[in-house]
Amino acid sequence: MLLTNLITPLAFLAATVSAIGSARVNNKCTSNVYVWPVGTNITGPYGLSGTVGYYAESFHVDPNTGGRALKISSHPDGLYTPGTPQTIFAYNLDVGTNQVWFDLSNVFGNNPAFVGKKITVKSADPACTQEIVWPAGVPPAGSQVRVCSASSNVVLTLCA
Ligand SMILES: *[C@@H]1O[C@H](CO)[C@@H](O)[C@H](O)[C@H]1NC(C)=O
Repeated sequence: MLLTNLITPLAFLAATVSAIGSARVNNKCTSNVYVWPVGTNITGPYGLSGTVGYYAESFHVDPNTGGRALKISSHPDGLYTPGTPQTIFAYNLDVGTNQVWFDLSNVFGNNPAFVGKKITVKSADPACTQEIVWPAGVPPAGSQVRVCSASSNVVLTLCA
């Protein structure tokens, strides 16, 4: 009995320390969006239905590219359709420090579905106040690179 009491809290502590968070995309816009996770390989698209859809992957290091990019379009074939706006949520996991660096950018212009809506990227760790906020759905001036603990999810919310 004494042994059980001792082991349980230690096992819990070990699990807590080694936990790895996820990169997550929540689609709260009314329209669907499509996500292509990109590293060495491209997978997807994962269709996220309006208001409830999400995509999540555990933070990991790509063996060739290092970083990972979640490319988002409103078009089901957006990644392969020239000139179609993409919003890119990129992250780099630093295993040594257990931190995750992340940023948000657009290529091929702003997505009309997000313009006038809010986009946020925030850690689920309330202690990490670093966050990305696009108040009007378009990139504001200045660096968009942030860093938080990799033990907590980092969540991109479209139409937050
Ligand atoms: C990329 O895809 C190939 C073929 O499916 C697979 O063998 C390989 O493990 C993948 N690489 C990564 C880094 O996911």
